[in-house]
Amino acid sequence: MTATPSARAAAQYATTTGNLTARIALHAYGTNPQDWYAWLGERLPLAGDVLEVGAGTGELWRRVDRRGARLTLTDFSPAMCDRLRELPDARVHRCDATRLPYADGVFDAVIANHMLYHLDEPDAALREFARVLRSGGRLAVALNGRDHLAELDALGPAIGRPDLTVGFDRAETNAETAPARIAAHFADVTVERYPDELAVPTVEPVVAYLASMTGPLTAAQDSAVRDVVRARIETEGTFRVRKHSVLISATRGPR
Ligand SMILES: C[S@@+](CC[C@H](N)C(=O)[O-])C[C@H]1O[C@@H](n2cnc3c(N)ncnc32)[C@H](O)[C@@H]1O
Repeated sequence: MTATPSARAAAQYATTTGNLTARIALHAYGTNPQDWYAWLGERLPLAGDVLEVGAGTGELWRRVDRRGARLTLTDFSPAMCDRLRELPDARVHRCDATRLPYADGVFDAVIANHMLYHLDEPDAALREFARVLRSGGRLAVALNGRDHLAELDALGPAIGRPDLTVGFDRAETNAETAPARIAAHFADVTVERYPDELAVPTVEPVVAYLASMTGPLTAAQDSAVRDVVRARIETEGTFRVRKHSVLISATRGPR
């Protein structure tokens, strides 16, 4: 039986920050000189009371000047919340994105980066985001397209293990479907794509990323993946991986 998005998220994140850290590390091989968090930081609405849901390890706030915004950071994972509490001057609450413990209209901005695809009911979260935003407040959602990291997804099938997929092509909430869903709750929806691709010069970060998604590889799988990636690096110089990440922005309409 296929696990639900929320069951997969709980297995990936509830007790460890390690899987997320391995994935963020792979993006260091992006070819855009402006990294994702810097690009995002220039575009986020960072004024007044700002709520981030599914904030993970808080990597965004370790890299971006929050310019005096009053930050509230939330995640459903106790392990992530422990990391978030290391950040100075931020309130941290452990809660589910679909049940936010805040009154109506108390935030100027809500940020949800790379997390809506973990929810069984993304519309329930979008309703919550609209509820806690003031009229005119801003929503920022980062998501991936179906072809995001396609070359990593192809590795499992290439070694005869189609179950070892990253799975962005299967996520129901993605860059293609989310704008219309968001427009059902918000006004002025815009989409901007971050231009980037990965050029990974060694095998190790690719194997670490794959293992972070699938759990530990067997010795035979590990060796087969290494052979495929090493062959690509030998012929092309690097292991190139497509990226497709977007920032979707929107405005909370009048109440
Ligand atoms: C891919 S990580 C992204 C972390 C961070 N936003 C970033 O971009 O670096 C997804 C995060 O969403 C959290 N998450 C998943 N389902 C959630 C839910 N229902 N409510 C709140 N957080 C959730 C996970 O624990 C994880 O930290």
